[in-house]
Amino acid sequence: MAINQNTKWPNRNTLYLGRSGSGKSQAGKQNPEIPRSGARVLLWDPSHDHKAFHIESKVTYARAVREAIASGKPFRLAFSGVLDAVKDHEWWCSIVWAALDGNYQTYVIDEELSASCVSTAKAEPNAAKLLNQGRKYGMVYHGIAQVPTEISKTYFNQTEVFYVGQQRGDQLKKSASLLGFKKNEFEKLTSLEPLQFWRLDPKQNGGVPELIKMQYQENNF
Ligand SMILES: Nc1ncnc2c1ncn2[C@@H]1O[C@H](COP(=O)(O)OP(=O)(O)OP(=O)(O)O)[C@@H](O)[C@H]1O
Ligand SMILES: [Mg+2]
Repeated sequence: MAINQNTKWPNRNTLYLGRSGSGKSQAGKQNPEIPRSGARVLLWDPSHDHKAFHIESKVTYARAVREAIASGKPFRLAFSGVLDAVKDHEWWCSIVWAALDGNYQTYVIDEELSASCVSTAKAEPNAAKLLNQGRKYGMVYHGIAQVPTEISKTYFNQTEVFYVGQQRGDQLKKSASLLGFKKNEFEKLTSLEPLQFWRLDPKQNGGVPELIKMQYQENNF
């Protein structure tokens, strides 16, 4: 059960969207809003894309999260033993929810999000609770997905900042509409190279999408 509600925390939930190789994981790792150390970080990372302590077993993961919280020290714990992406993700969301404490910020990195979504309708119950109520308990959510048209609307509704990278085909329309690009502006998306993103943040650049170009970093988070 999340504790210490504190409604003052801002919504900085972020979604990274783009096809495989567009650089989404890199964009998450290089985002300065996620502290490199000294923070509480929980990850869903089936492909070991992030630097963290990776755990395959649910029992071990749940215990590690409990112990990390009890220790009062920062942590970076990734669950990677995914067998059923939808069911296991619901379980993981319940673990994250129980870990939230509004006296602290908890950074949540959720990889391969389209695999964890059943449909574009409302998210599954535990995921919906996290997305809808987590902010008040200090959660900062970072979701990463290849296929935006497969993501539940709950994630879009609760996201403040979007990173949109390389896309093809039917994903272009969804991405363009998120960014407010008209049909004759699709070229702004089709011309993107790997590690290039349109970043849409209501608090930056006057709320207008801004082109970000990154360099690949080998030894980062
Ligand atoms: N030294 C390097 N090692 C690996 N990838 C590199 C390197 N230099 C540049 N890149 C580029 O970085 C990109 C990989 O970024 P990243 O892993 O963040 O992609 P992604 O969008 O998360 O992909 P996926 O959805 O498959 O996880 C690729 O386009 C790759 O070409
Ligand atoms: Mg990735």
